Amino acid sequence: MERPAVYVTRELPGDALARLDAETRVSLWRGPGGPPRTALEAGVRDAAGLLCLLTDRVDGALLAGAPSLRVISSCSVGLDHVDLAAASARRIPVGHTPGVLTETTADMTLGLLLAAARRIPEADRFVRAGAWTPERRWEPEMLLGRDLHGSTVGLVGLGPIGQAVARRLVGFGCRILGWTRSGRHVPGVEAAELDPLLAAADFVSLHVALTRETRGLLGGERLATMKPGAILVNAARGGLVDEAALVEALRTGALAAAGLDVFAAEPAGATSPLLGLDNVVVTPHIGSATVRTRERMAGLAVDNLLAGLAGRSLPACANPQVEPRGGAGR
Ligand code: DGY
Repeated sequence: MERPAVYVTRELPGDALARLDAETRVSLWRGPGGPPRTALEAGVRDAAGLLCLLTDRVDGALLAGAPSLRVISSCSVGLDHVDLAAASARRIPVGHTPGVLTETTADMTLGLLLAAARRIPEADRFVRAGAWTPERRWEPEMLLGRDLHGSTVGLVGLGPIGQAVARRLVGFGCRILGWTRSGRHVPGVEAAELDPLLAAADFVSLHVALTRETRGLLGGERLATMKPGAILVNAARGGLVDEAALVEALRTGALAAAGLDVFAAEPAGATSPLLGLDNVVVTPHIGSATVRTRERMAGLAVDNLLAGLAGRSLPACANPQVEPRGGAGR
C-alpha cells in the first residue's frame, strides 16, 4: 500500500518527524522561515495530510486547491490561522496541541508579570548601559516597581492556561478575579464580569483564544476602564488588544506597564511604537518555547496527523464532529 503524502511546513524538534517519515511520504519545507503562499499551495496540492504552524494561513482558498487533503494538524494550541468552518465543511479533521503547553505558557505568563512589575528588562538595560555608577550604587528610589504578591490579578479567560496561572498566583497571595464567557467556576478564583474585573485588577492577564468574538476584546474604551496604573500581560494573541490604544495608555501612564509575548502583527518590527516604550516588556511569541514542551507539541501534532490519515479519531481534535476518513495512499 502506498504511503500517504504529507506536507510539513517546518522542521520540528525531537523525533516527531522521523516517526512521521517512517509511515508517510514527507515533503518538508526547509526554509528559511515558513513556506511562502505559493509554496504552501503547491505543497498541499496532492497531499493527504498537512502539518502546519500558527504562521501558515490555512483558509478556504488553500483547501479548495487541496482536493486530497484528509487531515490538518497544527503544531499549536491556537487555531486562529485555520478556517475551521471551511475545514469542517470539507470534512477535514483539524488537530492541535492543547494540554502539553499549559504549564509552560503559565510559567511564561508569571515571567512577564514579574518582569513588567519589577522592571527587570529595564534594569538589565540600565546596568549594561553603564548607568549603574558608584554614585548610584544603591538609591532608595531607583527603578521602583510594583508588588505582584498580595495584589489583585484579573484573569481574562479561565481555560487550562488561565487556571494554571491562577494556581501559581495562589502562592503569591494574590486575590484572583476571573472572567470566562462560560461562567466556569474555578477554585480560588472569584468569578467577575469583564468590566468590573478590569476596573479592580492591579494586573490583567489574557487567556482567551482569538476568535471573531474576542478580536479587539480590549479596545480603547475597555482599556480606559482599567484601574489607573494597572499592568497588562498578554501571552495569548495580539489581536485581543487594540495596540494603538494600548500605546496611548502606556504613554500617558494610564497603565503602568505591559508584558507582551504576542502582537497584532508578528514579527513586531522596530517601527512598532510599543518597542519604543521603556515600560513595555516584549518577547517574540515564546510562551511555549521550552525544549520539552516544543518536543511534546511536535509529538502530539504528528500523532494527530497519523491518526487522521489512518481514519482514527485525532487525540486532540478541534472539530470532533468531523469523522476522519482513512484511506490508502494519497
Ligand atoms: C500556540 O500554540 O497557539 C501558542 O501561541 C504557541 O505555543
